[in-house]
Amino acid sequence: MNNIIDPPVRRTVLVCQHQACRKAGARQVFALFQTSPLPDVAIVPVQCLGECGNGPMVLVLPERIWYNRVNPDEVPAIIQRHLQQGTPIEPMLYPKFHSH
Ligand code: FES
Repeated sequence: MNNIIDPPVRRTVLVCQHQACRKAGARQVFALFQTSPLPDVAIVPVQCLGECGNGPMVLVLPERIWYNRVNPDEVPAIIQRHLQQGTPIEPMLYPKFHSH
């Protein structure tokens, strides 16, 4: 019998696409997350995450890990190290919510 059940979503990545984050390059950050889809990760564009001026903002759920001022160059590292290997990238975390 074939297994036709999709793998459960393990993580959701919210990528702010509202005005301030867009001005800072959030559209490209979202596009890059979409180019490397993972079967158990949902990439979701969202309206303002309430941290305008610090974007592009990225919030990883369910662990509520925030990345701020995400540069497109950093997206592959987030995908590989955090989403695939499960290790958040400490130096890139949003210091307001994560002290180094
Ligand atoms: S516009 Fe992105 S946090 Fe407000």
